[in-house]
Amino acid sequence: MTTGAWQRSALLTHLRTVTRPAHHLLEGALGLLDERLDQDTYKQVLERFYGFWRGWEPQVAALLQDGPLLDPRRRLHLLDADLAVLGSSACAVDALPACPLPLLHDAAEVLGSLYVMEGSTLGGRVIQRNVERHLGFDGGSGCTYFAGYGASTGMMWRLFLARLDEAPATDAERIATCATATFERLACWLPRKPDSDAQSRTMSDAALLHG
Ligand code: HEM
Repeated sequence: MTTGAWQRSALLTHLRTVTRPAHHLLEGALGLLDERLDQDTYKQVLERFYGFWRGWEPQVAALLQDGPLLDPRRRLHLLDADLAVLGSSACAVDALPACPLPLLHDAAEVLGSLYVMEGSTLGGRVIQRNVERHLGFDGGSGCTYFAGYGASTGMMWRLFLARLDEAPATDAERIATCATATFERLACWLPRKPDSDAQSRTMSDAALLHG
């Protein structure tokens, strides 16, 4: 085993461990896997993701300065397209509120935040199947955001992990802190189904308090 491979698995294991509770809570709170998933719930989730990505995508691009890595990972336009299919006008989309972003200062911190959003493409494939089953939207129209990179999702994830692998071990803690901060922002910002875990509310309120 090379040093790089060891570092990658150590950092990834750490990231998974520290973000697992946040991931679990968010997964349950969104309601996107419900049998009773309705179009309004789905649209609200897309609108809130839009409010996050609109500020986050340019912030990440400015700090990381890595077009070859980031350009194929841009997804704001997919949210735009899905919302149009769901009946939102360009004006309505433009007026959507913006999410307060996690504080990111440099490329190392961006990697932590990117881990969360790239990882979400893995779950997105599961969500896409449920949206298709209940609402009829698919990766061709109406559910392009969650369809993500389609058949290339696994390859895109592995390429991202290779980039993560290049991070020096001394950045590991800051990367993990920013991954957690990103999850907390989203938990605070994304809509939660009414009966979702009270703990998720507590976590979101804590994120708000800590700005
Ligand atoms: C209903 C909602 C969701 C479901 C069902 C879901 C499900 C999943 C699944 C099945 C995986 C792959 C696990 C594996 O292969 O070991 C995954 C990974 C991941 N998801 Fe989610 N997810 C959801 C929402 C989210 C959201 C909203 C985010 C963040 C924006 C997120 C972030 C991640 C991350 C970072 C990983 C990578 C974990 C790792 O392997 O290191 N997920 N998710």
